[in-house]
Amino acid sequence: MSIDYKAEIIRLKEKLPVTLVAHYYQRDEVFEMADITGDSLELARRCKADDNPWVVFCGVGFMGQSVKVIAPEKRVLMPKIACCAMARMIDGSYFDDSVNYMVERGIAKENILPITYINSDATVKAKVGEMGGMVCTSSNAYKIIEKGLESGKKILFVPDRCLGQNFAHSMGLKSCVIGEGECDPQEADIICFNGFCSVHQLFTVDDIEFYRNRYPGIKIAVHPECDPAVVQAADFVGSTSQLIKYVNDLDPEQKVAIGTEYNLVNRMRQGNTYVLSSTKPECPTMNETTLEDLYRTLKSIEDDQPINEIFVDEHTVKYANLALERMLAIK
Ligand code: 13P
Ligand code: SF4
Repeated sequence: MSIDYKAEIIRLKEKLPVTLVAHYYQRDEVFEMADITGDSLELARRCKADDNPWVVFCGVGFMGQSVKVIAPEKRVLMPKIACCAMARMIDGSYFDDSVNYMVERGIAKENILPITYINSDATVKAKVGEMGGMVCTSSNAYKIIEKGLESGKKILFVPDRCLGQNFAHSMGLKSCVIGEGECDPQEADIICFNGFCSVHQLFTVDDIEFYRNRYPGIKIAVHPECDPAVVQAADFVGSTSQLIKYVNDLDPEQKVAIGTEYNLVNRMRQGNTYVLSSTKPECPTMNETTLEDLYRTLKSIEDDQPINEIFVDEHTVKYANLALERMLAIK
């Protein structure tokens, strides 16, 4: 007999002290089951404030891990522990290499303030926390960098070179990317690690021109993980929640092309909304989680044999938490 996953998930949610969390990029059928949805910052804040002892997080690894770091007493399970491809681009030793790159070019370690995008492993966040640095997300990067600059130190921004360059540009600051041309930390305010999101690299200035030629007056809205040339040519740039608000506030007749992950764009208001790419911009890891995975994870709690639980060692929790809490303290 086949299992009705949706009905079983609803039954298990009612029975168990569990909060089901999903990022906007999740498949529709998974997303619809969630108690909490939002962009990375909202998910972190709301999970911390939530009372249930169990969290089942549908997203990518760093998201579930961040909940475990800010609320270590919670039991966090992920139906798929799928790793964000950008977060995989940096580990502790690449982080140390980036710090050394700056030190070798005359910036003392105590004069470096690291900021890591939340799309990074907890071990990288811990290194950042140990050096007095902070985490940021796509929705608060401006404020976090502004706060970081108050220290008078050079900012090392990891792992997303696009986010680092885009916010530096919007703040009138100089940035460079380690390993890309001449990157002199003496000359730049923000020194970026060379990581990127392959999904958001799909959007190009040619795509923007295509839509503007085809539909004069169309608005272009993109995520800050897009290439700087794309961000600078767009009408609006924002996190996933900010993109949703921007599109919802438009006149229903206003055409808009959106540069972010397909599941979210497809869920936004139908009609007059376009995907800013000829290639379907799907995040493979976000798409790994299925309704069946979600059911099996909830069932494992009912059976008292939890699967795919997130564990973070004490040292990492301590320092990664410092970096996350410094971010959460900034309103
Ligand atoms: P948001 O914080 O804007 O939801 O972004 C998360 C992400 O992974 C974008 O690719
Ligand atoms: Fe990571 Fe890009 Fe997927 Fe976001 S869209 S989770 S940055 S790979």
